[in-house]
Formats: sequence, C-alpha cells, structure tokens
Amino acid sequence: MGDKLTQSVAQAANHLAHADRVACLTGAGISAESGIPTFRGTGGIWEGLAVEQVATPEAFAENPQLVWRFYQARRAALLPVKPNRGHAALVTMANLCPRFTLITQNVDGLHHKAGSTGVLCLHGDIWIDRCDGCGWRTRATGLCDRLGHCSACGQPLRPGVVWFGETLPQGVLERAVEACTTAQVMVVVGTSSVIQPAASLAHWAREAGATIIEVNPERTALSGDAHVVINAPAGEVLPGLVQLWASAPRRRPG
Ligand code: APR
Repeated sequence: MGDKLTQSVAQAANHLAHADRVACLTGAGISAESGIPTFRGTGGIWEGLAVEQVATPEAFAENPQLVWRFYQARRAALLPVKPNRGHAALVTMANLCPRFTLITQNVDGLHHKAGSTGVLCLHGDIWIDRCDGCGWRTRATGLCDRLGHCSACGQPLRPGVVWFGETLPQGVLERAVEACTTAQVMVVVGTSSVIQPAASLAHWAREAGATIIEVNPERTALSGDAHVVINAPAGEVLPGLVQLWASAPRRRPG
C-alpha cells in the first residue's frame, strides 16, 4: 500500500473507532471483485441489451413469461457467484458497531449471501419473488423457468427488483435516510454516486454532521465532498480497514 493510501485507511479507521452509529452504502463496485460487471464501466451488464424491453412494469404486463425468463437467466448467472472480501468485511463491521446500517443499491443478494442481516436493498433484491396484487413475497431458493403465480391471489409473480419508472420499496428509503442522517460516520463503497435518490444519502448525512468515507478506485461525483477518500478496490482495503478499526482504542462519543 502506498503512503497516501495507508494514511487514508488509518484516518478512516480512526473515525470509525470513535463512532457508534455508522451507515454504509454500497453500489455495483463492491461486487466487481466477485466478477459481476458494474453498470457504468466497460462491459456493464446492461450494455447492448434493450433493458426497457424487460425491466419495466409495462413489459411485465405485456409479456410476464419473457420478463420472468430474463430474470431467471440473471439468477442462474448469479447462482455460482461468491461474495468477496469486501462483502465479508462489511459483515465484520456490523459486529464492531452497536448501530450499523448497511444500505445497498445492488440487487445481486451478495451481502445476504455473505451473512449481512437487515440490509436495506434500495433497488430490491433479485432473489425475492413477490406479488403486486396482494404484496405476498418470498425468498427464492432455486431456479424455475415457468412463471410462478401467487398462491394467495393468483397473480403472476415478479422479481423483487425496482424497475424503470417504479418507486423504491415502501419504507426502505425512509429507513436509509434515517440511518444516514443519524450516523456519525458514513462509508460509501463502490458507487458512482449519480443515481438518485441513493446519491443524495451521503450529502444528507454530511449536512447532518457525519464524516463521509469513500472507498472507490476511481474519482466519483461524491469524492469532492468526502472527508476521507480511499482510492482502492473494496476487497483490497476493507479487510485491513476493519482490522485497524477492531484494534483501535474505543473512544466513543457519549
Ligand atoms: N471496489 C470499489 N469500487 C469499485 C470497484 C471495486 N473493486 N470496481 C469498480 N468500482 C466502482 C467504479 O469506479 C464506479 O464508481 O464502482 C462504481 C460502480 O458504479 P456504477 O456502475 O455506476 O454502479 P452504481 O453506482 O451501483 O449504480 C447505481 O444505477 O443503473 C442503476 O440501478 C442501477 O443500482 C444501480 C445504480
């Protein structure tokens, strides 16, 4: 690790060791080291794909079977994917902090797979099957090519992701805003910070007095407003950051 990187990791660990309310927002970058392409990087998963043909409520109303099959293919691709050291470090972070809230824009379920609990999935979770008719939902355990129907009301089941033109899942954004605006430290990992409302969370946290730590190998829309910028891949730096935090003397605010 270069001097500057070592210094920013140490600074971040020091801020975290003084906090008992921490919020963390992740984006596609946290899953990049698991082999999942990011959205805006070269080879992003939506490249060359007519997303509007499959990722909208209109598409589902018109051809639910097609949309279902598309998401089954995405699930099939995700099935063998393993969480990486970045995801694992965030599981440990939750154990180090009395009030730790993990918020993600990812729908890949890798935080869940890594063992994180209570994750606020702003854009939903691809592994959830849900019914728009009555709100019934369940976590899918395997793959099924045939479109499922709600056992309660008979409507076709859909994946629990937020489609274009849809609002975020009820209550999830509110809980994320609450966590960010009451946090003493907010860690923002692997997001280009351009998609709203997720991109505003760090700004609201900062306005409410939180220290903002960004972990990203590239400069982003947030970098200029972050107090500590750690310019490196999450899987490479988060384990060390967590280790430093764990070994730092605790001097939490009263
Ligand atoms: N560690 C940390 N960050 C990384 C890594 C890594 N190993 N590799 C790439 N990144 C960073 C990139 O530099 C980039 O800033 O991750 C970020 C990924 O940005 P995007 O592809 O824009 O993904 P994200 O910010 O999560 O997108 C937000 O946009 O299209 C919608 O709904 C979709 O949830 C998604 C939302």
